[in-house]
Amino acid sequence: MIASVDSSAESDDDPSIVAMDRRLLHTTLEAVAAFYDARQVGETGGLGFRRTTRLSAFLACLDRWLDGGILVPDQSRFLDIGCGDGRVNVWFSYLTQASVGIEIDEWTLDEYLPLRRQLDQALEEQGLPLPEDNIALLHGDSLDQAVHDEMRRTTATTFGDIDLFFTFLTLHDELAPRIAADAKDGAIFIVYGLDNILPRYDGLTLLEEASSLADQLVLYRKET
Ligand SMILES: C[S@@+](CC[C@H](N)C(=O)[O-])C[C@H]1O[C@@H](n2cnc3c(N)ncnc32)[C@H](O)[C@@H]1O
Repeated sequence: MIASVDSSAESDDDPSIVAMDRRLLHTTLEAVAAFYDARQVGETGGLGFRRTTRLSAFLACLDRWLDGGILVPDQSRFLDIGCGDGRVNVWFSYLTQASVGIEIDEWTLDEYLPLRRQLDQALEEQGLPLPEDNIALLHGDSLDQAVHDEMRRTTATTFGDIDLFFTFLTLHDELAPRIAADAKDGAIFIVYGLDNILPRYDGLTLLEEASSLADQLVLYRKET
């Protein structure tokens, strides 16, 4: 089942990010990050069972990822495993052809639309472009093949089509071997939340220059 697919935000004449200049892209992504980072869950107090990525962490890496071909605007396909309220998907929607998320908790996924309405209003007030109409958030267990079948049916995207995988720290151990085995050669795995000790995974190469340890963001590339 698709818990939410964004079809409300974009009109035909909205600019694609390919046509959007780098300064407008930065301004827009900063605004999206500021909106969600003001609404983080579980980042303070330490015991939050649900935590959210600090989106401004991505801003430190953005130019390196674009210039280094890690992200190819309007071509790369992105998957957040354990997408929560879809905030990482919203941020990456500006930069990708498809921005797909899988979330096991339906009530968490239900927070996507109310937040999107507030975000869209804030962006409109600032005269900034709304997120691309390429976001699909699926309800299910990412370890269950059924949700991947649903992803293929509803987004024409398979695990093997994904260029960029993302996960908050909690799922990295399960996901790394699957990426090493089943992702396309060269696929990128972004892990958020790592601190000091960087895990090594068989079949994946750590990309130190594309990572930002200060922002707890670490990238790996599937070896060919
Ligand atoms: C730490 S949160 C991160 C949310 C979001 N990706 C972000 O960065 O803000 C991890 C999410 O993974 C979800 N999750 C845990 N196990 C999962 C699984 N097997 N399949 C799908 N989602 C899962 C949790 O419900 C939780 O919402």
